[in-house]
Amino acid sequence: MAEQADSLRRWVHAKADDVTSEVLAGRLRGPHVLAITSGKGGVGKSNLALNLALALQIRGVATAVLDADLGLANINIILGQEPDYTVFDVMQGDRHLADVVVPGPHGLTIIPGASGLAEAAAANLDQVATLLAEFQSLESQVEWLVVDTGAGIAPAVLAFVAAADEALVVTTPEPTALADAYGLIRAVDETDSPVRLHLVVNRAGDALRGQRTGERLAGLVAKALSRSVAVAGVVLEDAAVARAVVRQEPFYLGAPKSLARQDVDRLADYLLDRVPAPRRGGIAGFVRRVLASVPIGRGDAAPPTGSLKNQEPGLPMANAYPSTGPAYAGEQGASIQGTATGEDRAALRPRETEEGPR
Ligand SMILES: Nc1ncnc2c1ncn2[C@@H]1O[C@H](COP(=O)(O)OP(=O)(O)OP(=O)(O)O)[C@@H](O)[C@H]1O
Ligand SMILES: [Mg+2]
Repeated sequence: MAEQADSLRRWVHAKADDVTSEVLAGRLRGPHVLAITSGKGGVGKSNLALNLALALQIRGVATAVLDADLGLANINIILGQEPDYTVFDVMQGDRHLADVVVPGPHGLTIIPGASGLAEAAAANLDQVATLLAEFQSLESQVEWLVVDTGAGIAPAVLAFVAAADEALVVTTPEPTALADAYGLIRAVDETDSPVRLHLVVNRAGDALRGQRTGERLAGLVAKALSRSVAVAGVVLEDAAVARAVVRQEPFYLGAPKSLARQDVDRLADYLLDRVPAPRRGGIAGFVRRVLASVPIGRGDAAPPTGSLKNQEPGLPMANAYPSTGPAYAGEQGASIQGTATGEDRAALRPRETEEGPR
């Protein structure tokens, strides 16, 4: 059985390599894949993913948002949409990706992934090949794929982050969020993925202090880990965000003069001006890496039910990355605190010149 799974996996890799080289041959560079992630939950990932994607789209850069939070369909909720289908229907061969995507404002493409992606863990080979081929159709249609992930260091989250070209790690200035962001960055570091990391301090009370808070975390990462993280920007605490969420309208459109929109505009400019060309095979390469990190050929296994957010060991995606150290142990979120050493935690405590706990 294990041998069979191995040969299936090799076949998928070979097949996916073909897809990726086709992409690379067809266009010198595929779209950018940007994962939006965080250590702690509720720090503003989904709002940032959607509004940043809108900022790109409105700049004339064709953009798609993939809802890859395996628990709840965050993006659709923020937009007040109830999609009929998800990526799961594509995987089953019941729908084409084009029938599943939901048009968003200004021509933005929204891809409801949510539970459908969780079930990719139980996909059989045909289904995996179908998903790859369908996602390849996006390749020529978008320039940026923004992936809204769940929070924490669960393998299902890390799989998306490690597979992306770029990841925006979102934190608030709270010490707990900063410690969890550090834990997440450390877990990504342990995957050896070449994903480039960028930090966003959201809900900052003050731009300068928010920037300093971000730089302090980046400094700790540079000192302790083998990779660096760039501070991409700060988004201020802005009541317009919560109001827009209640109205189920992106603040970028509903509050065009808001401070949060100005900050998101700066982040979009940062992405367009500062991020180098992608070199990891575009969307096909991304999908291939995500699928390669979940056990393939388990179509006979019952698909997981419910949310994978608090997954137990033994659920299919729990094997996506082998445990490589304490960062992977235990529950997401809670365990991240445990990954920062005492010295790390002391270094993360706010200073007088920076954001305090709110
Ligand atoms: N810049 C901001 N200013 C004020 N409130 C904000 C800001 N960003 C986010 N919020 C508040 O935080 C809430 C949670 O945001 P969001 O759903 O985007 O977080 P998340 O990280 O995606 O959460 P989860 O981990 O549950 O997916 C929003 O509904 C909003 O009320
Ligand atoms: Mg979310």
